[in-house]
Amino acid sequence: MKNYAIVLAAGKGTRMKTELPKCAFPILKKPMIEYIVENIETSVVDEIICVVGYKKEYLQDLLKDRVEYAFQDEQLGTGHAVGKAADLLKDKKGTTVILLGDMPLINSKVINKVISYHTDKMNDLTVVTAEFENPKGYGRIVRNEYGSIEKIVEHKDCTKAQKTIKEINTGIYIVDNSLLFEAVEKIKINEQKGEYYLTDIVEIMKKEDYKVDAFLLWDSPKVMGVNDLYTISHAEKHLRNDINKSHMLNGVSIINPETVTIGHSVVIEEGVIINPNTFITGDSVIKKGAIIGPNTEIHSSIIHKNVSVKHSLVYDSEVFDNTTIGPFAHLRDGAVIGKNNRVGNFVEVKNSKTGNGTKAAHLAYIGDTVTGSRVNFGCGSITVNYDGINKNKTIIGDDVFIGCNTNLIAPVEIGNRVFIAAGSTVTKDVPEGALAIARNKQINKADYAKNLIRPKDDTK
Ligand code: UD1
Ligand code: CA
Repeated sequence: MKNYAIVLAAGKGTRMKTELPKCAFPILKKPMIEYIVENIETSVVDEIICVVGYKKEYLQDLLKDRVEYAFQDEQLGTGHAVGKAADLLKDKKGTTVILLGDMPLINSKVINKVISYHTDKMNDLTVVTAEFENPKGYGRIVRNEYGSIEKIVEHKDCTKAQKTIKEINTGIYIVDNSLLFEAVEKIKINEQKGEYYLTDIVEIMKKEDYKVDAFLLWDSPKVMGVNDLYTISHAEKHLRNDINKSHMLNGVSIINPETVTIGHSVVIEEGVIINPNTFITGDSVIKKGAIIGPNTEIHSSIIHKNVSVKHSLVYDSEVFDNTTIGPFAHLRDGAVIGKNNRVGNFVEVKNSKTGNGTKAAHLAYIGDTVTGSRVNFGCGSITVNYDGINKNKTIIGDDVFIGCNTNLIAPVEIGNRVFIAAGSTVTKDVPEGALAIARNKQINKADYAKNLIRPKDDTK
């Protein structure tokens, strides 16, 4: 018998007050729904059905063919949403786990645990519950005098006494497939809300003497639901702590971990040091001996061994061994920095490749450029890559010295062992071995300034 999963993700997420469908909202820069689907994929579940509705194209574009889709065009509640999966599932034999698309912390271990509990106990329906210190907003689990589950009451519909119940409905249910859709058909609309509550299947199945059970899960933050930007920040905090902890246990030292955010798919080798206020996201890889931060953002970039990146931004770029980046450098759009480079104070490198031992220590812009090895960019050097219409290329050979405040007007090619005098505006190619001087000659007019400048009184 197979295991199926239904993920409910058709809602708008009105309480989020954002345009995105809630389940697509990013947590640590990754859409929430991807966390859920990823964890179902690595669980014992064989097939996943995602119920989509509000801005469905957006979710389908994220998940592509990782899941099958059921469509809920009008969002008439969680019970109604599950009903939309009937055509795909009701004739199949097996067990279905229902999950909500707004529980980003769920993991495959929890999913496996609750499915095996359900099977071991030979339940017809298992409701997964948790105990929350602050249960506000969640459906409450009402148990009878024997301690078994009686019904689920939504927060809004709770009596004063029911509001004090701390055991909540996580929104995860495990249920025999064919029984599920029979029960869902019997859900009646909640007149006040105009919605079909999935939670009603507890009472419906109990009435028909099916074996309904509640499984109280201890690791409760894993099943929190997020409904607004405030609860998103809680989920993000949990996720951040979990990720940082696992890196630290793998030998990565993280200073002030509350201020360090590392994305889910980032790979960091042991021996790396991460300083405060640092964000590493996307599919970044940080290799041994690197020191990252403080105050640094690295997104989808590869940082090789013993590189140091301080107070800097690195997006979609690669930095090879022993190079130092920063303070206040910005690498972007496919910058590839060679070994033993220095990219220092207020230097921006865009879509460019540098050879080994190249240095741009201060105030430079390097764009659409390929440089050789051991090139020195003086303070204020600029590759003038944009003529207002096109982006043009600059090619620089090995062992080139570019004096301060040089403009290299692209397209332009500088040969090996060229020396460019400070203050030059280079518009023509420079052949190998040449000294290029492209600036006006200095004229000194004798005594001319004496009439212009009179000594001032510096005691005032
Ligand atoms: C739901 C449960 C509540 C539980 C809580 C756990 C119901 C009636 N209530 O409440 O008992 O404690 O989750 O977090 O089930 N959705 C659809 N179509 C719809 C409505 C919702 O697909 O018509 C999806 C949403 O996209 C969302 C999920 O179902 O991912 C849950 O919906 P939400 O409105 O957040 O339910 P809660 O009020 O949190
Ligand atoms: Ca919710």
